[in-house]
Amino acid sequence: MDQIRIIGGAPLNGLVEVSGAKNAALPILAASLLGGGECIIDHVPQVRDLITMGKLLALLGVEVQTEGSRVVMEASKVQSIEAPYDLVKTMRASILALGPLLTRLGEAKVSLPGGCAIGTRPVNLHLKGLAMMGAEVEVEHGYIHAKARRLKGARIDLDFPTVTGTENLIMAACLAEGTTSLHHVAREPEIADLCAFLTKRGAKILGAGTDTIIIEGVSELHGAKHEVMPDRVEAGTFVMAGAITGGDITVKGCISDHLGTVFTKIQEMGVELTEHSEGVRVRRSGPLKAVEVKTLPYPGFPTDLQAQMMALMSVADGTSILTETIFEGRFLHVPELHRMGASIEIDGPHAVVKGIPVLTGAPVMASDLRASAGLVLAGLAAEGETTISRVYHLDRGYERLEEKLKAVGAQVERVREVV
Ligand code: EPU
Repeated sequence: MDQIRIIGGAPLNGLVEVSGAKNAALPILAASLLGGGECIIDHVPQVRDLITMGKLLALLGVEVQTEGSRVVMEASKVQSIEAPYDLVKTMRASILALGPLLTRLGEAKVSLPGGCAIGTRPVNLHLKGLAMMGAEVEVEHGYIHAKARRLKGARIDLDFPTVTGTENLIMAACLAEGTTSLHHVAREPEIADLCAFLTKRGAKILGAGTDTIIIEGVSELHGAKHEVMPDRVEAGTFVMAGAITGGDITVKGCISDHLGTVFTKIQEMGVELTEHSEGVRVRRSGPLKAVEVKTLPYPGFPTDLQAQMMALMSVADGTSILTETIFEGRFLHVPELHRMGASIEIDGPHAVVKGIPVLTGAPVMASDLRASAGLVLAGLAAEGETTISRVYHLDRGYERLEEKLKAVGAQVERVREVV
């Protein structure tokens, strides 16, 4: 297994560019299943989860061609209804095949994703919504089996604004009979991006990006061309990399509107953020200051930047409090940060982080995608050498992270496992 080796302490300087958003590209690729016609998707990040999604779609009968960051798909011959355990277990986002397969083919069999490192992650709200649209849904032998001759429009009020649940229901409603109104849905920008693509394909959607989305079903969708939005989590990670190292970097492709609460907290920590033609410039002259942060559904502070924020808090002046409200198990990076000297106490969903002047490099292990990014940031600021193992987690969602950081002055390299 590859490792990432970092010699900390180098301030970052220069321009770093953000790739396309993994969590927008995943549902957009899954939405190819909704009908025939060529779909050309640009700015797709070349990360492991997208490769897995490509494999799943190919298995279901979609013709998929990838050329750099462009993915071209044609789904007129989709016949298979099954997303098997072997693929779903490597990527939970495979659940995004459920809504499109069911609404297009009248039946879908998708392996139930298990729990994962960050929490139990049930999909009950996806299933409840589909059942309200008339699907017969059963869970048997580890598979979700859903059937409906044609889904029917319905009013659905979500108990919690689940992101992929909202996406599944939107896609299902596109080909349903009549009007579906979805209430208390997730407002993440990735959902608006999915809706923009679906609209280009001929779907009739109102309210994308708000908590109420109305979809009038149509009988079929056609092909379309779309460019995936920039990755706001990657952008936030780079902004924080600049903040923790105290350099002067500009993050190109960073959309400030997508990172409102994150920017407020980073500025409160004493970091200067300025927007100019090339992107967002990140500078810091004084020490980082302690803050209080609570993760929330969008537009609140994203859970996907919590581990990175904790790295910053570890070296901030004073005591910070970080509360994780989205995933119950998302503190697995804490014991690893302890190995680097951080002072963090966990009390239920709260982490109390007493800032120390400097972290010390150590061998650490990544437990999930965003935890890995948090450890990379800690390593960039630490004294001496940090080696991060199990970086396959990082490769699921960050495109060439070490190369991009190296280009702005980080002393970082990937140590490839010799087999
Ligand atoms: N939940 C339920 N029932 C459901 C669905 C969700 O109880 O049917 C709960 C979950 O257990 C969790 C909360 O609702 O406690 C939020 O889960 P959500 O469904 O919103 O998460 P998700 O759709 O599985 C997406 C992202 C995650 C990101 C979360 C939260 C994709 C492919 N994944 O997951 O991204 O953390 O939203 O913003 O979009 C990542 O990129 O590293 C990642 C984990």
